Amino acid sequence: MLEVRHLSRSYEMNGQSVFALRDVSFSIARGEYAAIVGPSGSGKSTLMHILGCLDSPSSGSYRLDGRDVSSLSEDALARVRGETIGFVFQSFHLIPRMSALENVSLPLLLCGTPVRECQARAAALLKRFGLEDRLHHRPSQLSGGQQQRVAIALALCRDPALLLADEPTGALDPAATREVLSLLDEMHREGRTVLLITHDRHVAERADRQLRIEKGCLVQDSGQNLAESPYNM
Ligand SMILES: Nc1ncnc2c1ncn2[C@@H]1O[C@H](COP(=O)(O)OP(=O)(O)O)[C@@H](O)[C@H]1O
Ligand SMILES: [Mg+2]
Repeated sequence: MLEVRHLSRSYEMNGQSVFALRDVSFSIARGEYAAIVGPSGSGKSTLMHILGCLDSPSSGSYRLDGRDVSSLSEDALARVRGETIGFVFQSFHLIPRMSALENVSLPLLLCGTPVRECQARAAALLKRFGLEDRLHHRPSQLSGGQQQRVAIALALCRDPALLLADEPTGALDPAATREVLSLLDEMHREGRTVLLITHDRHVAERADRQLRIEKGCLVQDSGQNLAESPYNM
C-alpha cells in the first residue's frame, strides 16, 4: 500500500542542507500493522508528514496505493488525504471550542455529508469508544485518554484505509496508553493498515513489524533483511 524508494528530505538551514531523512526505502502491505521507531530527532515525524501527503520528499519516490503522489497537485493531495488517511497526533489536535461530537462530525460536514448523518456517524463512533456520556464535552473537559479517543474517532470518521499515528501515546499515562494501543489493535483487526510512530520501544512492540530509524536512515526492519533488500544495494 505504501512504497518509498530512496526517499530523502532535507531542510535548508543558514544556506546549508540538513538531512532529516536520507535514502529511505521500504514497503508496507495493505493491512499491515507496522511501527516506525527511533530516538527523538531521528526523522520520524518528517517521514510521517511525507507518508501522510502533508509534505513532499526532496528526492526519491513515494507511491500510495500504486499512485505516485509526489507529482500530485495540492488539491489532489488533499483529496487523497481525506479519502485514504486518518491521522492521530501526540497532542490530539482537537478544536477547543467544539464538543467531542462536533469535532468528530466536522470532516464529514466539510465533505458534504448531511448534518443528521454526520452526527449519527460521529455519535456511533464515540459510543463505540466508550464516550457515550461525553458527546457534548469540550476537549478541556476531558482527560488526555478521552481526548485521544475522540481524536481516533475523528481520524476514523471517513473510514480511511490507512491510519497514521505519530506518538499517539506520548502525552498519556500508562492506563490511557493501554486503551489507545488496544484501539489501534482493533483498527488493524478490522483490516486497516496501521502505522504507529513512536520513540518508545515498548509501544513499538505492539506492532507486527518494526522499522528502526536513526539519524534519518532506516537501520533495521524486522520484516526484512535490509542488507539483502534490492533497494539498498
Ligand atoms: N521544518 C524544519 N526545518 C528544519 N529542520 C527540521 C524541520 N523539521 C524537522 N527538522 C529537523 O529534522 C530532524 C528530524 O526531525 P523530526 O522528523 O521531527 O524527528 P522525530 O519526529 O523523530 O523526533 C531534526 O534534526 C529536526 O531538527
Ligand atoms: Mg516526532
